[in-house]
Amino acid sequence: MFYTTTKEHEEFRKKVREFAEKEVKPIAFELDQNSQFPDEVVKKMGELGFMGIPYAKEYGGAGLDVISYAICVEELSRVDGGVGVIVSAHTSLGSYPISAFGTEEQKKKYLVPLAKGEHIGAFGLTEPNAGSDAGGTETTAVLDGDYYILNGGKIFITNAGKADTYIIFAVTTPNIGTKGISAFIVEAGYEGFDASMHYDKLGIRSSITSELSFNNVKVPKENLLGKEGEGFRIAMMTLDGGRIGIASQALGIAQGAYESALGYAKQRVQFGKPISALESIQFKFAEMATKLRAARLLIYSAAELKQNHEDYSVEAAMAKKFASDKALEITNDALQIYGGSGFIKGIDVERFYRDAKITTIYEGTNEIMNVVIASHIVGRPPK
Ligand code: CAA
Repeated sequence: MFYTTTKEHEEFRKKVREFAEKEVKPIAFELDQNSQFPDEVVKKMGELGFMGIPYAKEYGGAGLDVISYAICVEELSRVDGGVGVIVSAHTSLGSYPISAFGTEEQKKKYLVPLAKGEHIGAFGLTEPNAGSDAGGTETTAVLDGDYYILNGGKIFITNAGKADTYIIFAVTTPNIGTKGISAFIVEAGYEGFDASMHYDKLGIRSSITSELSFNNVKVPKENLLGKEGEGFRIAMMTLDGGRIGIASQALGIAQGAYESALGYAKQRVQFGKPISALESIQFKFAEMATKLRAARLLIYSAAELKQNHEDYSVEAAMAKKFASDKALEITNDALQIYGGSGFIKGIDVERFYRDAKITTIYEGTNEIMNVVIASHIVGRPPK
């Protein structure tokens, strides 16, 4: 079954596109060059409801559906993939676990300001020895009276350093594998918690990515999310949804590159005519447009399944893998159409080309997407 968007979805797209064109596009180059987090843009997105799209109004959200959320990330990424991932990581990874697994008190205290955009959310799973093998988590949480004491560290955490609330995964029962991992809500201000080491990245430079360290951080025991031992399942279910966001980010970056190259090809004259009249260039656009259409349908189909509370893990993995692989191809073709001009700083395809790469890596590499997809077809090999 394929999904086509409704009139309401397209009206919402128009709203996000207008915002992205007016507020983000004019500063995208500067944000990229300076590796600058767009505080003002994020504040305005909060006021417009973009930071809590799929969450209920009673929890501060916009009460819209998952397809609207995908459209928002896509449209923001169409002008700046960094801004797209700020919203995606905040919504899918930083807020969803509280919405889906939090107690009423946790939702009131943490989800409401996140969904309103007053707070920023982040998700800390990856560690130096636990990347694709997320079950290899080494950060520990030991219950001591009314607190869990966290020790360890995380790497490559999107929004970290700007976030107010972090979903952190740590081992509560050692030596039993994934069943020994638990999830916690950690506030930025807790003593012993540090997120001050930021990376200098190839792309998505308007987003911030940082290391986390926990040095005897006291986390109140009421901040345990779900039950002890449920952390790995919470992480996996959260990442299923996150992959719809990253697929949408990849699609938006690719769409931006496609449109830019199309505009250029129509006005760039060689051999006495616009290069868009050359068959070699026309066929590139035919390929690009087909890939964009296919990626969009996969993404909306996965989003629709999630919205309807059906199993969508495989579809999300397919959408993420396909959209990100195609984003690399499309941004590459777009730059090729620009020729030498596309290799020069200041031309947006140069930035789109760099921004696209991470989408094949984070929220599960595309190799791990194959593991997820194949395991539903043929099962997992015995351990
Ligand atoms: N939903 C619910 N439960 C799930 C699940 C899912 N999607 N996936 C796995 N589980 C459950 C399994 O059913 C199993 O439960 P039982 O033990 O009760 O049977 C349990 O979790 C363990 O599953 P596996 O045996 O499959 O676990 P594994 O250790 O072999 O790992 C994996 C599976 C798919 C490789 C997983 O480790 C994985 O997804 N790795 C990639 C991690 C990842 O995506 N990291 C991204 C970090 S965040 C990020 O990138 C953010 C950013 O920057 C923006």
